[in-house]
Amino acid sequence: MTLNIVRNILDLRKETAGWRAEGLTYAVVPTMGALHQGHITLVKEGLKHADRVLTTIFVNPKQFAAHEDLGRYPRTEAADVAMLAEAGAHLVFAPAPEDIYPPGFATSVVMAGPAKVGLEDKYRPQFFDGVATVVAKLFTQSGADFAMFGEKDYQQLMVVTRMARDLDLPIKVIGVPTVREESGLALSSRNAYLSKTEHHQAAGLHQRLVNAARKINAGQKPSRATAAARRSLALLGFKVDYVAARNAETLALPKSPDEPLRLLAAAWLGTTRLIDNIAV
Ligand code: PAF
Repeated sequence: MTLNIVRNILDLRKETAGWRAEGLTYAVVPTMGALHQGHITLVKEGLKHADRVLTTIFVNPKQFAAHEDLGRYPRTEAADVAMLAEAGAHLVFAPAPEDIYPPGFATSVVMAGPAKVGLEDKYRPQFFDGVATVVAKLFTQSGADFAMFGEKDYQQLMVVTRMARDLDLPIKVIGVPTVREESGLALSSRNAYLSKTEHHQAAGLHQRLVNAARKINAGQKPSRATAAARRSLALLGFKVDYVAARNAETLALPKSPDEPLRLLAAAWLGTTRLIDNIAV
């Protein structure tokens, strides 16, 4: 079956109104295209929660900084649509930039809370407001019951969850566990940039997080366990941006020994920046 692609909000609403008229539920999977197995897992998880799955493909200019080359972001729509059809998605929404940000567009979602905790936001200050703005629009345009986001981008998942709650958007944001290679390396389109040796080294990021979580569970102070992980990663050849233990929901620094924690890390191998996180 060929997968239907709609390119403007009117056509999207016609399709979703048809689903509603049939009494069907649906999930949205927001993406910027260049899909890999991690995205396909989101589609498959969406199919477990809802009768229909809508995937959006939109390279969002608002989440790119001036020095990040928006024009060079990979655009692989035909291959993406083929993967989505194979995975069982029902509809693709691939709008043009003018549909999302028409002339005169003047509204942004500006986030605090989990968007301002000194993790990814320290390195990409405009990123989460850009994400929150486009995701708020995609949620209201689609009117979906569920939204699927990967835990791989854990801070993004917390930001989007907070935004939907704060704006009373009637959608349930569902986090989907990270898909990993056998070595533990999280799947990411950036892994393609790693040399063979770096690819092998890269699994060290996940392993160091697992070690730190084990130590924290055995009673070690999170600050000590994360400092050891940073040192160990540096010895492995990583240039570490952060390894941090944070409250699993707010991403604030932990205050009490019994709150749920998440370990989050970002580090460079050569010219490739990798991120990962695990529950403690
Ligand atoms: O994770 C992404 O691909 C993007 O940040 C998202 C959520 C599709 C918003 O543009």
